[in-house]
Amino acid sequence: MTPGGVNSPVRAFNAVGGTPRFIESAQGAYLNDVDGNEYVDLVCSWGPMLLGHAHPEVLAAVSQAVARGTSYGTPTRPEVELAEEIVTRTPADKVRLVSSGTEATMSAIRLARGFTGRELVVKFAGCYHGHVDSLLASAGSGLATLRSSGQAFSVPGTPGVPAASTALTIVLPYNDPTAVDAVFAEHGERIACLITEAAAGNMGVVPPAPGFNRFLCETCARHGALFISDEVMTGFRVTRSGQHGLDGAPEGWQPDLLTFGKVMGGGFPAAAFGGRADVMSQLSPEGPVYQAGTLSGNPVATTAGLATLRLATEDVYSHIDNVSLVLQDAVDAALDEAGVPHVVQSNGNMFSVFFTEEGITSVPDFEVAASQRADRFTAFFHSMLDQGVYLPPSAFEAWFLSSAHDDRAIDKIVSAFPMAARAAAAVPTSPDAPPPDVRWPDEQENT
Ligand SMILES: Cc1ncc(COP(=O)(O)O)c(C=O)c1O
Repeated sequence: MTPGGVNSPVRAFNAVGGTPRFIESAQGAYLNDVDGNEYVDLVCSWGPMLLGHAHPEVLAAVSQAVARGTSYGTPTRPEVELAEEIVTRTPADKVRLVSSGTEATMSAIRLARGFTGRELVVKFAGCYHGHVDSLLASAGSGLATLRSSGQAFSVPGTPGVPAASTALTIVLPYNDPTAVDAVFAEHGERIACLITEAAAGNMGVVPPAPGFNRFLCETCARHGALFISDEVMTGFRVTRSGQHGLDGAPEGWQPDLLTFGKVMGGGFPAAAFGGRADVMSQLSPEGPVYQAGTLSGNPVATTAGLATLRLATEDVYSHIDNVSLVLQDAVDAALDEAGVPHVVQSNGNMFSVFFTEEGITSVPDFEVAASQRADRFTAFFHSMLDQGVYLPPSAFEAWFLSSAHDDRAIDKIVSAFPMAARAAAAVPTSPDAPPPDVRWPDEQENT
C-alpha cells in the first residue's frame, strides 16, 4: 500500500532491521504503540516536540483554532504573530512561512539565486537540507572530498534527480576551511550561496568547529554570495534563538538567510525561511522571485507553533540542557564500562553517540562519521528498544529531548544503557565476522 510501509524513509527500520513500531498515542516523554508497549521517546518526532507530546496548552490552542475553521487561504492573525515571534528570537528581519523544511531550503536557494543573479550552490557532505533536487548531492566517498578544478561539482545522490540539477551544486567536506577557500577562490563570482546546517545533526551530531560558521559567513560576504544557515533542526531547540544563540549572537555576525522548521510548527507542518530585509523583499509579490503555497501559514499549524514557542522559556531550555548532560555522561560511562569504543558528541542539548573504531576521539565530518561501526549501534538500538527506550533507528541521527523528560524518563533511559552497551560489546570486533542476531524476538520466532 505504501512503499516500504512508511511515509518517510527514516521511519523504517532498514538500517537496524526489525519492524517499525506503530504508534497509537503519545503523552509527555512517552510513546505508546498499537501492541500496548510504552517507550521513552528520544526521537521527539525528529525534533519538533520540544515540550513533549500532547502538551495541554498547545492542545487547547489547537482545538480552539480548529473550531474556527482549518484553512482560509487569506492572511490571518496567528501567522503574523508567529512571524513576529520568529523575528524577535532570530536575526531574520522578515520571514515567509511554508509547510516543510524542504520547502524552506528550496525557496531560500531560489531566492539567493534570484537575488545574486548567480547559479552555483555550495553545501557540505553529510548535511541534509530536505529532499530538494539540487541538494540531494551529498555525501560519501569521492564526492565528499574536494577534487581538483571542476571536479568538485556533484552528481545526484539518488535516481530521479537529473544530473543537471546537481551540476550546479558543489559538495565540500564539513569543518574544512581550506576546501571552502579553494572553491571560493576558483568559483567565487559564480556562487549564489553557501548553505550549511547551522550545526550538523544529520550525520550524527557534528558541531561546527569554533569560528567555522563565522568564517563561512565572512567568506560568502567577501565574494558577494549569500550565507544560508539551515536552522530547521537547531532552530528554537538548542537555544531560544537556535544555533545563532550559540555562535552568531555571541560572536557578532549573522547569516543572510535562515531556514526554520520542526519546533516552530509544534508538531504540525509549518516551516519558514527568512533573513535580510533587502533579500526577502525580492520575494513575490514584493519582488520578482516567485514562491507560493496553498497551505502556507495555515492557521492551525501556526497556532500550534506559536503556542509552542511562547511556552519555550529559558526554563525549558535549561531543563533540556541538564537532561542532555546527564544522558551524555551516563551513556559515555556505560560504553566505557563495557569496553565499546565510541565518541559522544553534542551541540547544545542535541547529542548523539558514534560507535567509532578504536582510537578515534572526535568526529569532525562525514567521512569519519561514515566509518563508524553501525553494527554496534544496531545491537545497542535493539537492546534499548527491548528495554522500552525509543532511539532514532539509525546511527546517523541526533537524539532529541523535551521538557517533558522528567526523572522517571531519565531513570528508565539511564538504567537501560548498561545492558545496551554490553549488547554492543558483544558484536564481533571484525566487521567481516557474521553479525549477531539482533532481531526483535517476534521475528526470530517466525524464521
Ligand atoms: C537541517 C534540516 N534541514 C531541512 C530538513 C527538511 O525538513 P522537512 O523534513 O520538514 O522537509 C531537515 C529534516 O530533517 C533537516 O534536518
